[in-house]
Amino acid sequence: MEKNMLEIRHLSASFFTQKGEVKAVNDVCIEVPKGKIVGIVGESGCGKSMTVRACMGLLKYPGRVVGGEAWLDGKEILSLPEKEKCAIRGDEIAMVFQDPMTSLNPVVRVGKQVTEALRLHRNMPAAEARREAVAMFEAVGIPEAKKRLSSYPHQLSGGLRQRVMIAMAMICHPKVLIADEPTTALDVTVEAQILRLMKKLCSDGTSVLIISHNLGVIAQLCDYVYVMYAGRIVEQADTFTLFEEPLHPYTRGLLSSVSSLRRGGDKLDTIPGVVPNLLHLPAGCSFSLRCERCEEKCRECLPDLMDVGDGHKVRCHFAGRGEKA
Ligand SMILES: Nc1ncnc2c1ncn2[C@@H]1O[C@H](COP(=O)(O)OP(=O)(O)O)[C@@H](O)[C@H]1O
Ligand SMILES: [Mg+2]
Repeated sequence: MEKNMLEIRHLSASFFTQKGEVKAVNDVCIEVPKGKIVGIVGESGCGKSMTVRACMGLLKYPGRVVGGEAWLDGKEILSLPEKEKCAIRGDEIAMVFQDPMTSLNPVVRVGKQVTEALRLHRNMPAAEARREAVAMFEAVGIPEAKKRLSSYPHQLSGGLRQRVMIAMAMICHPKVLIADEPTTALDVTVEAQILRLMKKLCSDGTSVLIISHNLGVIAQLCDYVYVMYAGRIVEQADTFTLFEEPLHPYTRGLLSSVSSLRRGGDKLDTIPGVVPNLLHLPAGCSFSLRCERCEEKCRECLPDLMDVGDGHKVRCHFAGRGEKA
């Protein structure tokens, strides 16, 4: 059995709005084994970002965790006091966001931003931190690394900025790297380079949890995949099984729309309808409103996430019947 570097257990998180409770994350369990890459896939608005932000302790008001645990290398981190959360963030667990322009400080040179974590978490002298930053810039493939330290974010291309973000996240050699749509803003060639880089980092022992609405990215990169729909995990398996034997109608819909997602959209054109309003979830299966196989039972009762063998789990009333795509 592989050791889990990150284990999310029955995590639920909601936004408490004037209209009511928006259940953005609903009883989510995710395991990230040591040295593996795990993907979360699903349409916009299904709760992917909120799941990982909750783990990082980065939910913004009126959002908050309402239940569950997150274990980082054997330590529960959701219940830690804020000060201890800060101490592990950027050190033991780090995050790369979708848009580097909004997460990098535009008025601070990137070298200073990258070395900050070393100074903060490792109390490293400036000259040594600078040497580490140059080495990390080289590791993530930033040309003329030394010179680049003194650039401002806007002086770099989108691809270079994303590399700076990854360098920043990796500088303290975290146990777990979380990447939320790390290549969505990039063109296909740069995307491929960044994905190769993440794979290499993982081969050095870092465990990665990556979010994407793009199944092509997930297929290239991940060892295991979780499919999320309306705040819940609806299917999970090793990547090969998920692509060869998808059992949930939603996963099948996602797979058949890979080509349209590839063209840059993030809406499915093969599954009619939209993700239900998380304020008013249907009583039964959340996908029932869009599912062509939907029967009475589906509308009335939420299916369990059922193990159909070898860790392949599916939340569908039909999955246990051994029916294949
Ligand atoms: N500030 C907020 N107030 C209320 N609801 C929110 C807020 N931010 C996000 N949500 C809800 O959380 C859901 C999940 O969002 P998110 O995790 O960002 O989705 P994803 O990353 O899968 O696109 C959204 O569908 C939205 O309804
Ligand atoms: Mg998101």
